[in-house]
Amino acid sequence: MILLVNGPNLNLLGEREPEVYGRTTLREVEDMVRHAAAGWKVEVVAFQSNHEGELLDFLQENRRRARGIIVNPGALTHTSYALYDCLKTIGLPAIEVHLSNVHAREEFRRTSVIAPACRGQISGLGPRGYLLAAEWLCAETATPLRVARPKRAARVAR
Ligand code: DQA
Repeated sequence: MILLVNGPNLNLLGEREPEVYGRTTLREVEDMVRHAAAGWKVEVVAFQSNHEGELLDFLQENRRRARGIIVNPGALTHTSYALYDCLKTIGLPAIEVHLSNVHAREEFRRTSVIAPACRGQISGLGPRGYLLAAEWLCAETATPLRVARPKRAARVAR
């Protein structure tokens, strides 16, 4: 199972600064991620909160059931050492996702305090960023494929 976690103000996706964040709603993003993960037979449990502590509670409570985390912490990205500690403590592979390119906006958005606790960051690719994160997590955490060894070529009689 994958935990899909969105932080403050992301509940207003679709109506919030659409020129920056687009018109896709959070519900639609969650459905897209569910659909992508279903192709891997992986379940997605989605959660959004405007409250830092609720995000931590959700992550802690579900940590043992999950194989990975997709997290867009909103503005908590830039401030929350508590979320950084939580991700470190849980130790599951986490992907940090941002709809907008945080490196091409205001200076304060360029710093992510959670990035060092994540396996990677996807920023600026809109809702597709969540899909890419889901794809990576599913592939990375899948049972490794057994690759059949090529059979030895039969000796050819000379
Ligand atoms: C965001 C970028 C953050 O800087 C901002 O505070 C958000 C959304 C994004 O998805 O682009 O709330 O995480």
